[in-house]
Amino acid sequence: MSSPTPVQLRKLEALARKAAKHAYAPYSQFPVGAALLTSTGEFFAGCNVENASYGLSNCAERTAIFNAVSNAKRAPRLKCIVIYTPTKAATTPCGACRQVIHELGPDTRVVSICDSDARIDVSISTLLPGAFGPANLE
Ligand code: THU
Repeated sequence: MSSPTPVQLRKLEALARKAAKHAYAPYSQFPVGAALLTSTGEFFAGCNVENASYGLSNCAERTAIFNAVSNAKRAPRLKCIVIYTPTKAATTPCGACRQVIHELGPDTRVVSICDSDARIDVSISTLLPGAFGPANLE
């Protein structure tokens, strides 16, 4: 599993909490923030963006990843992603986001933080074992 430095991890946590403040979540009232670190040391963040057509809602993790793809200096590879939810228990990314994380970083460290000291800190391969990915198309 790839790993950020302790300083980078603290920055990711702060960025994820800050991103949640931008969430557009009028339907669920469940604001989520995500922040990621690329292999070249760039940081990107995102929040969930919901829609009146509920199925079109986008999770914070994918917003952060699409932000990275859109703005990184080079095609990004993910090293770590931190997800903040305003809950007592830490929550892991949904299945769709796991697949998208795996696409750009099969070795990504996934850290979930919340409003208590509880946290989840695992590799994406733990959350999505046996994933289908780019290697399957070679
Ligand atoms: N959500 C995220 O943004 N990330 C997650 O990991 C779980 C769920 C969002 C989707 C929706 O806007 C709201 O949280 C409730 O499911």
